[in-house]
Amino acid sequence: FLHCSKKFCWLMVLCVFLQGMAFSLEERLQLGIHGLLPPCFINQDVQLLRVLKNYDMKRDDLDRYVFLMGLQDRNEKLFYRVLLSDVERFMPIIYTPTVGLACQQYGLIFRKPRGLFITIHDRGHIASVLQNWPEKDIRAVCVTDGERILGLGDLGCYGMGIPVGKLALYTACGGMPPQQCLPVMLDVGTDNETLLKDPLYIGLRHKRVRGQAYDDLLDEFMKAVSDRYGMDCLIQFEDFANVNAFRLLTKYRNQYCTFNDDIQGTAAVAVAGLLAALRITKSKMCDHTIVFQGAGEAAMGIAELITMAMEKEGLAKDECLKKIWMVDSKGLIVKGRDHLTHEKERFAHDHPHMKKLEDVIQELKPTAIIGVAAVAGAFSEQIIRDMASFNERPIIFALSNPTSKAECTAEQCYTLTEGRGIFASGSPFDPVTLPDGRMFYPGQGNNAYIFPGVGLGITACAIQHVTEEIFLTAAEALAHLVTEKDLAEGRLYPPLSSIRDVSLKLAVKIMEYAYEHNLATLRPEPSDKQAHIHSLCYSTDYDEFVVDSYRWPEDSVSATDVQCHHKM
Ligand SMILES: *[C@@H]1O[C@H](CO)[C@@H](O)[C@H](O)[C@H]1NC(C)=O
Repeated sequence: FLHCSKKFCWLMVLCVFLQGMAFSLEERLQLGIHGLLPPCFINQDVQLLRVLKNYDMKRDDLDRYVFLMGLQDRNEKLFYRVLLSDVERFMPIIYTPTVGLACQQYGLIFRKPRGLFITIHDRGHIASVLQNWPEKDIRAVCVTDGERILGLGDLGCYGMGIPVGKLALYTACGGMPPQQCLPVMLDVGTDNETLLKDPLYIGLRHKRVRGQAYDDLLDEFMKAVSDRYGMDCLIQFEDFANVNAFRLLTKYRNQYCTFNDDIQGTAAVAVAGLLAALRITKSKMCDHTIVFQGAGEAAMGIAELITMAMEKEGLAKDECLKKIWMVDSKGLIVKGRDHLTHEKERFAHDHPHMKKLEDVIQELKPTAIIGVAAVAGAFSEQIIRDMASFNERPIIFALSNPTSKAECTAEQCYTLTEGRGIFASGSPFDPVTLPDGRMFYPGQGNNAYIFPGVGLGITACAIQHVTEEIFLTAAEALAHLVTEKDLAEGRLYPPLSSIRDVSLKLAVKIMEYAYEHNLATLRPEPSDKQAHIHSLCYSTDYDEFVVDSYRWPEDSVSATDVQCHHKM
């Protein structure tokens, strides 16, 4: 659109798309789009109704995903209005589990690019690639290299669906304006043979580049983002493989404004669930013995926060560590075992090695088990029954995503424990009715309870380094929002429908914490934090169009430039 009349035309078309038939007659006349729209004027409520009716006609979840993404491209405000009209209904579509399915078929459902693609071959030029992104004020970046998408494995460039979905939730749940969010794919190749042979694959067709070249890419990326958008631009890492996730978090956490959602976000949401469970069992965190099935990013993150919570109760650090056990693909992690990474070493205790999870549970008689290894069905009938025999209220968290990877179903948990199990899952499960008529609403330990609120809080007061305490603060705040009624029904989290409010409350808590601990750099400190956060939030109401007379520089014909506020 270098040529002005083309540019004008493009603006017009974009505006027609932006809010369609919601333009008033005056706007249509001023914009010169009168006649290009059907004569009827309809408001956003009616547009919402039309979307919902169309949505109901879709055959399956993947179709629903494609439909919603199409809407996001066409009319962003309406898209968010739709999501907010029923978050509980749409979240499983734009996020886990459906987003997993979408990523597996990303090449097939590809319509229009979304987000920024940076490849290993862009080394040395990342700053100029960032210059190509039209928005200048980015507050949150979500980045993946696609190596470990949910529990699905290496999806390479198809993993872009994850940052796109996550950031949609920043807006839908946290109220962060979408133009301030940037999804990024760092494409370094893929080791997935299926994708390398897939004619529809959208990424680089070679094996993953590792080692120094990879590290250089990440260093350059972090620096380029912070240079362009500021040291307080939040960079959220998502779905990197274990080895890189820990390493990069350790490397960058004190240098940039960054966190890893799989490690820290998952930890906060799981610990919030545990803190809520403690309100049911009327016990302290340090009264518990916890066994993890899995010793990856999620397990380490959760264990770290549990340890912090126990320390806060007054227990010494090494005593806390002793209450946590981990089982990986080679069995129980014990002192002296082979293949122990630095992270695993901390949770290796003096104990004979045991291979099977069943035996570990029988031997250690834990009060809580937490599944995070994406081994579907790992919590066997035997294990669940055993947990119910050792404990009045066994805590059973099947956190692996998507649903197909869950360690057990909600129904299995409630049935085999006769309703005594305290259950949470990563992906949603329907309510369960036991034969005696009691009904349970399984808690979904959805990261979306945490990262949008945390992101909002961090960006709202320009925190530059995201400490672990911020996540414990978020977990405590979240657990605090669960009502007695919720707990009685088995819910360990507030209803998803209240997530916007939850995120705001978390953000306020984080701001308070940040100013108390000198982490916030926004000055002066806003006295009314809630009002401050409200003022930053995105509205789904259509903008008023400001119409200016404008003289195109290239020719002398006067034209009308259309500025849809912060858009275009
Ligand atoms: C490879 O990609 C396919 C298609 O996206 C996916 O279903 C599969 O899980 C991936 N396999 C591995 C081993 O990562």
